[in-house]
Amino acid sequence: MDGEGLTVRTLAIAGAQTYDGAEFPLGLTCHARDATLEDVAAWVRKRRDDLLRRSSLHGAILFRGFPLATADDFDAFVAAFGLPNFPYDQSLSNAVRVNRTERVFTANEAPPEVTIFLHHEMAQTPVYPSRLFFFCEQPAEAGGATPLCRSDVLFTRIAGQLPQFARDCQRHGLKYNNVMPAEADLTSGMGRSWQSTLRAATREQAEQRLAALGYSWQWLPDGCLRATTPVLPAVRTLPDGRQVFFNQLIAAFQGWRDSRNDPAQAITLGNGQPLSREDVNLVADLAEQLTFDLPWQRGDVALVDNFVVMHGRRTFRGVRKVLASLIACDA
Ligand code: FE2
Repeated sequence: MDGEGLTVRTLAIAGAQTYDGAEFPLGLTCHARDATLEDVAAWVRKRRDDLLRRSSLHGAILFRGFPLATADDFDAFVAAFGLPNFPYDQSLSNAVRVNRTERVFTANEAPPEVTIFLHHEMAQTPVYPSRLFFFCEQPAEAGGATPLCRSDVLFTRIAGQLPQFARDCQRHGLKYNNVMPAEADLTSGMGRSWQSTLRAATREQAEQRLAALGYSWQWLPDGCLRATTPVLPAVRTLPDGRQVFFNQLIAAFQGWRDSRNDPAQAITLGNGQPLSREDVNLVADLAEQLTFDLPWQRGDVALVDNFVVMHGRRTFRGVRKVLASLIACDA
């Protein structure tokens, strides 16, 4: 993959998996020591369609050894793809994040001891990004890997081991339930306030946005807001026919716990039936068995197809700065 003064080769990644002859994740490394950010941007622009095709096929691409050091460099790398930005302030994400540039923000401000369980980004809302870019500005002292799991492979395993559960998910979809605080709660992985989540200054504005999105809601005496989504699909069929477990079931069931939220209440089938704890635990075990832990090095970029791969965050020690940038769906 030469061109624009850049030599890019495939990188063998320890522990990478292979499905249908495609490594997961695909590793690409840049060899030119004097390569500039401009060289990289030109290389991306020229290879864009091929890179996007490969990110969908493999699920994720790790770019290592490219000359990127800052949030601005990362912004320029993402901008070179020429894809529509998915701004955090317009998302219904429940994570607290801080913008660093217009398209780049901190991945999640939750404390180091909080595990973020596997999920497809914002699959618990009707509005989600198609692709995610992550950038390692500073790796943690220990831990802090980004677990990645191929959701198409997972769904095939679920259908084999829990056929009734797989059918229920396909037939009924899922509904999610969460309580948003009245003020940002930085101790929680889901501590974004309702005002920020819904871009609302008043309760009336919040209710208008929820109604437009098909949510139901309840105001709690302490000013928090309980919101329930409309029925959302739990399984998605990709254009190439692969079926993926596109939802936040694992994260909601295992991880939506803070002073306001109880994971057992967080999610039901679309018909209101509770999920079997045993089944969900088995699904989480299957996902864990399929997980590849991305070990961050300074300057790494990962491009993740949000329809193919789930991600999360391992606990860590020290300071970890992983930035993110999201791409809107093309349609
Ligand atoms: Fe996420």
